[in-house]
Amino acid sequence: MSDTRSVFVDEGVLDINYIPSKLLHRDEEKRLLEHFFDHLLSAPYEMSQRAIIVGGVGTGKTALAQLFGRELVEKAKKRRVKVRYIHVNCRELRGSLFMVLRRVVKAMRPDFPERGYAANELMETLMQLLSEEDTQLLLTLDEIDSLIDTDGTEALYNLTRVQEGLLDDSRRLSLLCISKDINVLKKLDKSTLSSLQRSIIQLKEYSPPQLSSILLSRAEAAFRKDATPLEVIDFIAELASQEHGDARYAIDLLWRSGKYADLEISRQINLNHVRKAAPSVFPTIKEESINHLSLHELYVLLAVARFFKINNLPNASTGEVETLYKVVCEEYNEKPRGHTQFWKYLNQLKGFDAVHIKMDSSNQGRTQLINLTKISAEDLEKEVLQAIEQK
Ligand SMILES: Nc1ncnc2c1ncn2[C@@H]1O[C@H](COP(=O)(O)OP(=O)(O)OP(=O)(O)O)[C@@H](O)[C@H]1O
Ligand SMILES: [Mg+2]
Repeated sequence: MSDTRSVFVDEGVLDINYIPSKLLHRDEEKRLLEHFFDHLLSAPYEMSQRAIIVGGVGTGKTALAQLFGRELVEKAKKRRVKVRYIHVNCRELRGSLFMVLRRVVKAMRPDFPERGYAANELMETLMQLLSEEDTQLLLTLDEIDSLIDTDGTEALYNLTRVQEGLLDDSRRLSLLCISKDINVLKKLDKSTLSSLQRSIIQLKEYSPPQLSSILLSRAEAAFRKDATPLEVIDFIAELASQEHGDARYAIDLLWRSGKYADLEISRQINLNHVRKAAPSVFPTIKEESINHLSLHELYVLLAVARFFKINNLPNASTGEVETLYKVVCEEYNEKPRGHTQFWKYLNQLKGFDAVHIKMDSSNQGRTQLINLTKISAEDLEKEVLQAIEQK
């Protein structure tokens, strides 16, 4: 039952994990996906396809893949063709091929034992399961850059080659990769690259009118009638368009604006609610991304926040952050990890748009520069402290 004083009727519609039943302005891209993977339905087991979706933050990559996967499975069922769809986020799985494979095998066999298998064994197990079920699998590797950064290009190479040399010559595994950055392709070996290059789906930034229509369709389901005047929708769309057309930012801001309206017991969201909500919405540092960091990664992030809280400088060096990281560890009575491990933690933070890490060109050694954008050091510190507490 909805609270009669609230502007919301169904907040869940604005949840970050909500998948809308229809994606606006992505028909063409969806058709392209259908085209690339058509053989799963029309010529099952004949080939294994690879494709990649590329686009900036909040351009609908994840939603598009998930929606496509859902529809693919439904269509397959109608045609009595066996297709599974499994979607894994490589960054949430720390960019580890091993963890990705374990997640996939677990999705197929929930009671599969947690321990005792190496990555190559899991790969074999996966192929065996597909063969036993006599099914095809479309596996989506979301945020594939993380897998390549951590486990190298070999991980992807192995996944694309696993079917060659098997006795069973049915093609069962197709891959859909997702990346924010097209440069990820440059890192791949020639043959993986050439198979992906032929099937790239690029998602453009949403324009303000497109963002407005996306917001409108969500607002209709999430809010009481008349609670979201058009000028509010357009204002949020304008702000989100400044954030590179990030639909997630737009939807998040809409939700928070509703919260401010509720706080003031207003029946309608107004522009001032949006203004109040805007500074608290950070398109990248959000619970979703922060909560899957390990404790020590959070300590490193805290060290980054502390550095910029104390120093009015554009960049921090790795050394400076590492020193502060050790202080943070001391504070929490934890033994700081060694330099190599610290380096890995730091690289794990590359996924955030708010933390930029680049090589220091003035220094030929392996120094990196860390830079904080889009979030104040104080806010970042607050968020991280909260996340640490929850662990
Ligand atoms: N065309 C659209 N129509 C309706 N909702 C959309 C559309 N595009 C994106 N959204 C919504 O915006 C939010 C962000 O989309 P999504 O998570 O797919 O972005 P992304 O490209 O995967 O971003 P990231 O690179 O940060 O992972 C989701 O809640 C999604 O449902
Ligand atoms: Mg995504």
